[in-house]
Amino acid sequence: MEFFLDTADVDEIREIASWGILDGVTTNPSLIKKSGRDFKTVVKEIASICDGPISAEVTALDTEGMIAQGMELKSQLPDNVIIKIPCTPEGLAATKILTENEIDTNVTLVFSASQALMAAKAGATYVSPFIGRIDDTGSDGMALIAEIMATWQNYDVKTKVLAASIRHPTHVLQCMQLGAHTVTMPTK
Ligand code: E4P
Repeated sequence: MEFFLDTADVDEIREIASWGILDGVTTNPSLIKKSGRDFKTVVKEIASICDGPISAEVTALDTEGMIAQGMELKSQLPDNVIIKIPCTPEGLAATKILTENEIDTNVTLVFSASQALMAAKAGATYVSPFIGRIDDTGSDGMALIAEIMATWQNYDVKTKVLAASIRHPTHVLQCMQLGAHTVTMPTK
């Protein structure tokens, strides 16, 4: 069971790391923008506080652009940085190439078990289903976690399920009860 923080606020990361329960951090362009700081500077600082996986997201929309950004981030940032890629056809293709180059990935913006399966097939290290965003539409985000975990059990899937878009502590507990490998949550 892994606990990740979903923030780009280094003070929050330092605080929770000091509790001894922090395994990694996810960031996204909105969180970095909110910090008001330079993207690479923030990611480097986060990576120096937490030695677990730190997700840095690409912003390109095309496969070649995502691969180029992913490779550049890997070459310029600390070793524990992994590349966060949207679950689009272009993102799946980029995930496959980055995986072949031994670069770990977090395939994000997953809203269905089919998307999660395709990300796993492409070789994703993590796949991130967005529970809260699904709840926001009136559907049941936790049902998606249950569906993915049930599907995973039929095969020797190496990809870890990283539950994201967490809104409250009960989401975290329910994800763990369903066997999700990892949960990323805001500090509050
Ligand atoms: C995860 O990696 C995402 O950054 C995050 O969980 C997005 O969730 P939200 O924008 O719905 O809060």
